[in-house]
Amino acid sequence: MTDYGSLERQLTALLDTRDWLTNAAQTSAFLMQMLDDLNWVGFYLQRQPETLILGPFQGQPACNPIPFSKGVCGAAARSRQTQRVDDVHAVPDHIACDATSRSELVVPIIIDDRVWGDDTVWGVLDIDSPVPARFTAEDQAGIERLCHVFVGASDLCESARQG
Ligand code: SME
Repeated sequence: MTDYGSLERQLTALLDTRDWLTNAAQTSAFLMQMLDDLNWVGFYLQRQPETLILGPFQGQPACNPIPFSKGVCGAAARSRQTQRVDDVHAVPDHIACDATSRSELVVPIIIDDRVWGDDTVWGVLDIDSPVPARFTAEDQAGIERLCHVFVGASDLCESARQG
């Protein structure tokens, strides 16, 4: 079983700058290293309205851009709810960037942005696995806490606009 409390402490120590770009890169590398059975981990950012743009990630080159209307990432951004998918083949509009992906977890990242308005979808954290039903409810809760560490450590408002 994954010790998410320990991962939370390690990630907090790792993110020692406020720079969102550095922290997003570090977080994706940390998750890829520390969690078993993953083939892709990364961030998509809302840098244009209702569109997710590929950010720092680990894994194969990925699909870009992803509109809010499409795929599991789009569903997370649209609904602002974490999407935990046991079998990606059962999701009709799943976007298959890497054919080995079988299950995935996508966590929306919501920020309070003075320019874009309250409760803006900053982006999503997308985690893919080649193992069906890789993510349990406990993994979901643990990874949501790790996202919270990333959000707390980073100046995300700096990145919410297209640079
Ligand atoms: N799985 C996502 C697409 C992104 S890739 O997996 C990296 C989706 O269907 O939204």
